[in-house]
Amino acid sequence: MSRPIFRRLSVCAALLFCTSGLAQAQDHGDYDPADIEYGLSVYRSQCVTCHGDSGDGIAGVNLRSGQFRRAVSDRDLRALIANGIPDTGMLAFDLDSAEMTGIIAFLRNPNFELDAVTLGDEARGRTIFEGKGDCLSCHRVGQEGPRGSVDLTSIGTTRAPSALRRSLLDPTGTMRPIDRPVEIVTAAGERFNGRRLNEDTYTVQIIDDQGRLRSFDKDRLQQFTVHTESPMPSYGDELEEQELADVLAYLVSLKR
Ligand code: HEC
Ligand code: HEC
Repeated sequence: MSRPIFRRLSVCAALLFCTSGLAQAQDHGDYDPADIEYGLSVYRSQCVTCHGDSGDGIAGVNLRSGQFRRAVSDRDLRALIANGIPDTGMLAFDLDSAEMTGIIAFLRNPNFELDAVTLGDEARGRTIFEGKGDCLSCHRVGQEGPRGSVDLTSIGTTRAPSALRRSLLDPTGTMRPIDRPVEIVTAAGERFNGRRLNEDTYTVQIIDDQGRLRSFDKDRLQQFTVHTESPMPSYGDELEEQELADVLAYLVSLKR
């Protein structure tokens, strides 16, 4: 993956000569490859008509370079994209935060060859989500699905498509620690399964599989097990490549 900023920085450090613009570029930090990939899909849907397939469609503007005449910091770039450039063809774009993070990461690492995640048909994806994929038996979307289950209502604003795809192919490998399923047996012998909302040294709060919020003192439990296997099946074998792309298109559309 090309990292023009870092190359520039090392050149700049080696020469002990930095303009203020380059010095400011230093605090951009690292960018998540998933964001860069998502940024390419945003680019292809919103920017390509003017800036072209390889970023040099407009005379005097080169989006392949990772640096810009009119923007130095990431904050400048965000403002430029959100407000447009008055009296030019550069429009204002109303991007949600995942899209904005993606496009900034992409403009800083402009790899036009990245293999972006293929998104299929949103409507077909919904049918699979509610039918064959059986996703609603564990997930909530809007008013549907069991109460207290993992809520995907606005998953499209918080996760990049490539991250969503990894979740479908490898649920256990991508499971975040707080999402690990827990099994609790109280001193009185009552058993609860659920997922944690919160945990500290002494207490744990869970949503049980009936959708009820429960709180326990840990030192009064007979058993407190945190499972590292996700209950979600891996969909690599269960769905065809096209079906996966359709489900992804549906997940990406969930933005509320
Ligand atoms: C309708 C055509 C159009 C679309 C769509 C468009 N742009 Fe632009 N963009 C322009 C034009 C024209 C300029 C040059 C403005 C000028 O400086 O005269 C520009 C300039 C820019 C610049 C400043 C470059 C520099 O060197 O300062 C950036 C960054 C940029 N566009 C990013 C984007 C992104 C990101 C998108 C998609 C979200 C996008 N543009 C979509 C027309 C467009
Ligand atoms: C047997 C229950 C179950 C089924 C069926 C299931 N999931 Fe999941 N899913 C979970 C659980 C529990 C988690 C949280 C733990 C994890 O990340 O694996 C999760 C996590 C996810 C995540 C990641 C959420 C995040 O915060 O990043 C996505 C996306 C997802 N599921 C989509 C789906 C889709 C799409 C389907 C149907 C094709 C599906 N799931 C079917 C239980 C299930």
